Amino acid sequence: MPIHLKSFDSRLGTHETPEVRHLSPENAPYYLPVGDEVEIFTAAYRARLPVLLKGPTGCGKTRFVEHMAHKLAEESDGPTELITVACHEDLTGSDLVGRFLIQADETVWVDGPLTQAVRRGAICYLDEVVEARKDTTVLIHPLSDHRRILPIEKRGETLQAHPGFLLCISYNPGYQSIQKNLKHSTRQRFVTFEFNYPPADKETEIIAHESGVDADTAGQLALLGEKVRNLKASGLEEGVSTRLLIYAGELIRHGISPQRAATVAVTWSLTDEAESKRAIDEVVKAIFPA
Ligand SMILES: Nc1ncnc2c1ncn2[C@@H]1O[C@H](COP(=O)(O)OP(=O)(O)OP(=O)(O)O)[C@@H](O)[C@H]1O
Ligand SMILES: [Mg+2]
Repeated sequence: MPIHLKSFDSRLGTHETPEVRHLSPENAPYYLPVGDEVEIFTAAYRARLPVLLKGPTGCGKTRFVEHMAHKLAEESDGPTELITVACHEDLTGSDLVGRFLIQADETVWVDGPLTQAVRRGAICYLDEVVEARKDTTVLIHPLSDHRRILPIEKRGETLQAHPGFLLCISYNPGYQSIQKNLKHSTRQRFVTFEFNYPPADKETEIIAHESGVDADTAGQLALLGEKVRNLKASGLEEGVSTRLLIYAGELIRHGISPQRAATVAVTWSLTDEAESKRAIDEVVKAIFPA
């Protein structure tokens, strides 16, 4: 069975497939488990319970879903694809479900990414779901309870989800205003994973693996991460992501000095605020003296 990984950007007004990869356990991207999330996701998938991932930016949510989609592809009714939708404030229900388009004088129906996932048994990952318009809730609710159905109002049709289908959504509670929190009737339809930055020993391993720096340098970057996250109490809005620590590692591997790499990939990426920059800089210099 041909299996793919796709992502959609409805802002382009197209359903282009910028990335197509074969889903199979052997092609699973590297993911280092931090707790029992692999076992729980596997159980949730087998029970077809929808999944909600919460956590700060760059802490491994997307990587985890990609990893799990590959790992589960060999189950008898397992996912055939991973379809990712980056939600934004203009994203409507129609963007997810589909619409009638005029093509050569004919009106044709084009499935949106959610409908495609429901028909074909994909894992549908709605990233930053709280950003989307409210009318998307009407679609998510009947799909994420025992009914597993998708109403396609414009066609007067209701689709029963393919057995392989799973709905997976994510959001970052830190960014949202009160109005943009998930409603209880939505959140109480999901099994929830609370992601956070990995502990230092695991983060060291991840940085070394992803950026290719030696274990010592990776350990120093993980320590930098830990210390900068502790500064959060003193006014930094968000801790430094694992992603940025990996960027610093990559710059180091490509010949930039560790102190400089940490400044451009961590300090400047994190904040514009002079006081916070100074505080991070001090930590950088303590860990990476020039
Ligand atoms: N447990 C992990 N195992 C392997 N890699 C990880 C892990 N955690 C983080 N990473 C690395 O961190 C990078 C950023 O993670 P990812 O893109 O999954 O973040 P995210 O939580 O989806 O962030 P956002 O909310 O911004 O989308 C990944 O590309 C990967 O290199
Ligand atoms: Mg992500």
